Amino acid sequence: MFKPDLKVDLNGLVMNNPITVASGTFGFGREYGEYVDLNKIGGIMVKGLTLKPRMGNPSPRVAETPMGMLNSVGLQNPGIEYFMEHEIPFLRQYDTKIIANINGTNIEEYCEIAEITSKADVDSLELNISCPNVKAGGLAFGTDPKMVHKITKAVREASGNKHLIVKLSPNVKDIKEIAIAAEEAGADCLSMINTLTGMVIDINSRKPILARGIGGLSGPAVKPVAVRMVYEAAGVVNIPIIGMGGISKYEDAVEFLLAGADAFSIGTANFVDPSICEKILNDLTLYMESNNIRSIKELVGQVIK
Ligand code: FUM
Repeated sequence: MFKPDLKVDLNGLVMNNPITVASGTFGFGREYGEYVDLNKIGGIMVKGLTLKPRMGNPSPRVAETPMGMLNSVGLQNPGIEYFMEHEIPFLRQYDTKIIANINGTNIEEYCEIAEITSKADVDSLELNISCPNVKAGGLAFGTDPKMVHKITKAVREASGNKHLIVKLSPNVKDIKEIAIAAEEAGADCLSMINTLTGMVIDINSRKPILARGIGGLSGPAVKPVAVRMVYEAAGVVNIPIIGMGGISKYEDAVEFLLAGADAFSIGTANFVDPSICEKILNDLTLYMESNNIRSIKELVGQVIK
């Protein structure tokens, strides 16, 4: 029996396998280390980082929904300095790529954090212009192609040659023009999708369940939207795509690859089963063996129209 080649090269970011974990669903990896061998994960997108520590939004900030969940965490994180001092050394013990998800409230802040992080011992930056849960920054930068181009270009310049992923929002009119804007401005890779904005209301109190009212929807409920967007983006850009949105089993991951993703992220499913990445890795390997698929490349974009 042959051993399938799971290695992927995302425009210079070479990972042992196509499995990554979505930012905000895996912390900095520490808590998950008990349940999953971090060496088995191709890359870890860490919780969204900001220049200064943030407490995030008031509670409640998560709500369960049919086949998914809504969150409004608000980028709670210990700040970039703490991450560099305490979390990078922890993650570096493992054979996985470290992908730093970076955030700001304006272009200057995005550039400042990009410059600092690009000099740190991380493998890639994930420019987050799609967080729906903050007053300034986030989604405000990710919905207009001109703005996507402007911020990506500025961050590209601020981060030198560091590998740069741009994380796209699904809350847009046309994902194709957003993907093209990021590519033209110098992104090495795209990750998509972030959460879809949503709301749940308690019919007794008549108030939204989330303290902030609106949050981001993730989980299996969003998967068909995500697959469609990856498919559309893959049709218009030449840079690799990390697909995500509702992946909870290997079949979902294969769908993303067929739609045109070169790698994929597990997000909400980590909350349901903290060892899910290893299961998906094993199942994907078996699927490739039994279907005589020798490398991930043989699956990418192979949907039959
Ligand atoms: O609210 C949050 O921390 C979510 C971030 C994101 O969706 O990028």
